[in-house]
Order: sequence, then C-alpha cells, then structure tokens
Amino acid sequence: MSTAKLILKGTEHELPLVEGSEGEIGIDVASLRATSTAITLDPGYGNTGSCQSAITFIDGEKGILRYRGYPIEDIAKEASFTEVCYLLIYGKLPDRQELAGFEEKLTYHSLLHEDMKKFFEGYPPGAHPMAILSAMVGSLSTYYPAWSGAEDVDLNIVRLLAKAKTIAAFSHKKSLGQPFIYPRNALSYTQNFLHMMFAVPAEDYEVPAVLDRALNLLLILHADHEQNCSTSTVRMVGSSQANLFASISAGICALWGPLHGGANQKVIEMLERIRDDGGDYRKYVALAKDKTSDFRLMGFGHRVYKNFDPRATLLRAAAGEVLDELGVDDPLLEIAKNLEQVALEDDYFIDKKLYPNVDFYSGILYRAMGIPTDMFTVMFALGRLPGWIAHWKEMREDPKGRINRPRQIYVGATRRSFVPLAMRDGGKAPEEVLEPVGAW
Ligand code: CMC
Repeated sequence: MSTAKLILKGTEHELPLVEGSEGEIGIDVASLRATSTAITLDPGYGNTGSCQSAITFIDGEKGILRYRGYPIEDIAKEASFTEVCYLLIYGKLPDRQELAGFEEKLTYHSLLHEDMKKFFEGYPPGAHPMAILSAMVGSLSTYYPAWSGAEDVDLNIVRLLAKAKTIAAFSHKKSLGQPFIYPRNALSYTQNFLHMMFAVPAEDYEVPAVLDRALNLLLILHADHEQNCSTSTVRMVGSSQANLFASISAGICALWGPLHGGANQKVIEMLERIRDDGGDYRKYVALAKDKTSDFRLMGFGHRVYKNFDPRATLLRAAAGEVLDELGVDDPLLEIAKNLEQVALEDDYFIDKKLYPNVDFYSGILYRAMGIPTDMFTVMFALGRLPGWIAHWKEMREDPKGRINRPRQIYVGATRRSFVPLAMRDGGKAPEEVLEPVGAW
C-alpha cells in the first residue's frame, strides 16, 4: 500500500493513503495522534475528508457532479425527483415496480397526524418557514419514536420524505391565513406539493405542467452535494445515534444560514436592492470587491466548484425557458444576467475563481413559480432531503462508524488560580469567602 511520510519533530511517521474510485487521494491520519500525540488542524475543513462515501462525486475543478455515478445533466433530463430519492437512498435506479411501490408509499404517508396541525396555531404569523420545518421534522420523532435504536428505518425514511412537503406547504398556507389543503393520492409527489401550496377549497386547481417540470428539476439539482455544511451536520448528529428525524432537523437548521441554503433568499433580496437602487449592478460588483464592506455577491462562489457549478448552468437555461412559458417578465432576471456578466469578466472574481452557484438562479425560478421568498430555503431543504437521508443511512450502516468527535488546539489561558467573586473588582474579600479550599 502506498504511504505518505510525515516528519514531526525529527520522528518519521508513515501514514497510509486511501484512494477513491475516481483517483482522489486521502492521507489516513487515524493513527497519527496515537503514534505522535499531534493532531491535524484544518479550520473550515477545506482539506479534511470526514468519511468515505459512495453517494455523490464532485470534481470542483472540472465542474462535475454525479449521483451514484450518473452525471447530473443526464439525471436532470431523464429522471423524476422520486427516482432520484430512490437512487440516492438505496444506491440503484429503481425498476418500474420498485418505483411504483416507492411512490405509492410516499403518497400514502403524506398526511400529517391531525394533532400536528395544532402546532401551526402556536406559531406567530410571520414565523420563518425554516424554523417551522425544523421544529416539525424534529417533532415527527414524538409520533414515530425510535425504541432503543430499533426504529423501522425504511418506514421512517418514507414518512419523512412524504410528510416534509406537507409541512412545507402547510407553513405557507399558515403565513397566508388560508386553510390547509390536504394531499391527493391521484397526484405525483411534486404535483401534490404544488397542489397543497396553491389550491384553495373554493376552486378547482390543476397543477400546471410547467410548474411540475420546473419543480422536479429544482429538487433534483438540490438532492445531494456530498459533505456540505448541512449534510455534515446530519452525519455529525446522527453519529451519536440520534434518530433520523432529530438528525435531519439539525441539518435543516444548518442549511438555513445565508452562506449555505439561505443564500437563495439573499440573492433575491440583493437583486431587489439593486433594482430599488436604480439597477446599477456595477456599483454592487464594486461593493463586493471592497474589503472595507462586508457585502458579498450572494449566489457567487463555492468552496468546491472553482470553474463552474453545473447546477447553475442547468438552472440558468431553465430559468429563461420557464419564465417564457409562464409569460413572466421579471426585471430581476435581467439584473442577474448583467451582474453575472460583469462579475465573470472582472479580475477579482476571475482570480478568486468565483462563479454563480446553484442559488444564483434558483430564486428567480421559485419567484416565477409564485413561491414566496422566505420559502426558498424550504424548497432547498425539500430537495436536499434524500441526500441527507442517504448520508444518515450510509453512516449508520457503516460497521466502522464511530461518534464524530473532532479535537482542537487549545489556545486559551494556561492554569491559573481562581479569583473569588468578591475579589474580582479589586475589593477586599470578606472573611468567610477566604476560607481555605477544602474547608467543606
Ligand atoms: N462575493 C465577493 N467576494 C467573495 C465571495 C462573494 N460571493 N465569495 C468569496 N469571496 C471572496 C472572499 O472575500 C475571500 O477573499 P479573500 O481571499 O481576499 O479574503 C475569497 O473570495 C475566498 O472566500 P471564502 O469565504 O474564504 O471562501 P469559502 O470557500 O470559505 O466560502 C462561500 C464559500 C460559498 C461561503 C462564499 O463564496 C460565499 O460567501 N458566497 C456567497 C454566499 C453563497 O452564495 N452561498 C451559497 C453556496 S452554494 C449552495 C450551497 O451549497 O449552500
């Protein structure tokens, strides 16, 4: 086996190399602390592999993304979101019978326990739907508990996929003050979500095919992205053997941040700000480069992609088509295209390899579909569910799995004597406080 040599304070340590199926090389440092007492330090984990995984492959330099070996471009063209869920979670493309059985279960489990509807009454009208989603997903474990680790994993996986979209749509209805719309068994997964989002009891509603297609694409493109912040969170929480719902609820919270999934909401807010400020996108490119400002071009840059994000390429093309088909003329799309053009030709962005990421165009699409801005990150979460679940399952099924417990380099104060409260402001300590330690 090939090894890497590390010379640490004059002593040589031989570390095994691990090679992935696409030739990626990792230095296995698992024995390092035991043999040397040193640890590796990698803030932000840019150089750290936390696991071996067979789910998703990314080559950030070449702009390659594959789920279980299948290129994202082919999957986006050929597959439905439910097929992708099956592929990611169970590792293979389903045959017709397997897919039909899986979809039937997803439909059957779409309803929420009626008591859970009462939760919505407790949230204030302006509650962010990400807060509702994470709380409600965590609450699913109260209805479908895992008894001493013997939970019925497959059933809970189906329940989670099926009910999350109902929770998401209900949180939208709650924000509008409209009655909840129940799922219908004759509809597909994506149709059901759109139906629950947009139908009202007073009228018939037929899901427009263009919305269904766009939603399928958006969910597929968000379905997995290997060890990103939220997926790593799911694995971290799950490594303590926390149940599926608790682990995914933690992942939803991690996704919410503006540097991760929350960026899609921030992109639209940024484009609106540029529009309201007269549309001068060049000014905002300059601001993003200005180190005295903390403004960033939201939807630009990625830890892994250093050439282009293949998901952004697919979404850019889809955005134009969907807006045309829906007859939507959104000035934000023009601003987005101009901003992209200017940034792509600017040395700052070229040198730092900053390109539009998946969030840059997804918001424009969601907006055109009639999905409100604060629901964008919820949409990302619905798409990312199968990826989180697949990683949680892979981790739990790994016989070598251990609780995740990183170490640290401590840089705080070295040992010092405790100062009693009465002495900290320079005052003289009262007699009783000065009793010698150990008097009790
Ligand atoms: N606008 C302006 N400058 C940027 C941007 C940006 N969007 N992104 C990175 N930079 C600069 C940054 O200031 C830094 O400059 P310097 O080296 O001079 O200090 C350099 O580029 C490297 O940035 P970083 O923050 O160290 O890079 P990172 O890999 O830690 O962060 C990122 C990646 C995605 C968090 C970051 O590019 C960013 O904040 N982008 C905007 C938020 C965003 O769109 N997030 C969605 C990510 S894709 C969807 C997902 O997976 O969640």
